[in-house]
Amino acid sequence: MKNKGGEPILLAVTGASGAIYSLNFMKILKDLGQEVHLIVSEAGELVSRLEIKEDGYQAMIQMAHTVYKADDLAAAPASGSSRWQAMVILPCTMGTLASIAHGFSQNLIHRAADCFLKERRPLVLVPREAPLNRNHLRNMLLAEEAGASIYPAMPGFYSQPKDIDEMASFFAGRLVEFLGLRVDGLKRWDGIIER
Ligand SMILES: Cc1cc2nc3c(=O)[nH]c(=O)nc-3n(C[C@H](O)[C@H](O)[C@H](O)COP(=O)(O)O)c2cc1C
Repeated sequence: MKNKGGEPILLAVTGASGAIYSLNFMKILKDLGQEVHLIVSEAGELVSRLEIKEDGYQAMIQMAHTVYKADDLAAAPASGSSRWQAMVILPCTMGTLASIAHGFSQNLIHRAADCFLKERRPLVLVPREAPLNRNHLRNMLLAEEAGASIYPAMPGFYSQPKDIDEMASFFAGRLVEFLGLRVDGLKRWDGIIER
């Protein structure tokens, strides 16, 4: 399916574990013909290179229509006047979550998220941490109350993934559908089949 004519999606990758989700998310959106603009935090780059290796990291960068530097506070996402369909922070660190929950715009990711909240546009945070302390839990509630959706990196296993790539792809596909796009071929729950 092609999603022609949709506004771009803004993807931010921060330094939590889970770069494999971002890579699969990008692949699915690319297949849909969806334009994606990307911001990667310094820690996001470090952890991505560690987890999906240089090839995976470069593939992610190559799939983006535009890549902004996280310290470029003059880039388009820093203004509420820019047009985006949605912003997804995948994965989202507890540090970035805290900055968004409390409105500290210390880099372009925080500032863009703040703009999405003030403009009442869809902002989806995919936090990854375990265990969660009370600050983490409070910050998730604060961000949700300000208008963000909290979509934790908690993959389901009912699709019976054969490997971690299939697991990450299923999670990423569900996230794409959460944005309102349709992912053909996504495994769907169809009840329990008696054998
Ligand atoms: C290998 C590695 C894994 C990490 N995993 C997580 C994580 O799952 N969740 C988290 O909140 N922080 C994690 N961190 C710590 C963050 O990267 C760190 O707090 C960083 O300052 C976050 O900056 P950012 O939000 O700008 O990306 C990890 C760091 C490293 C080096």
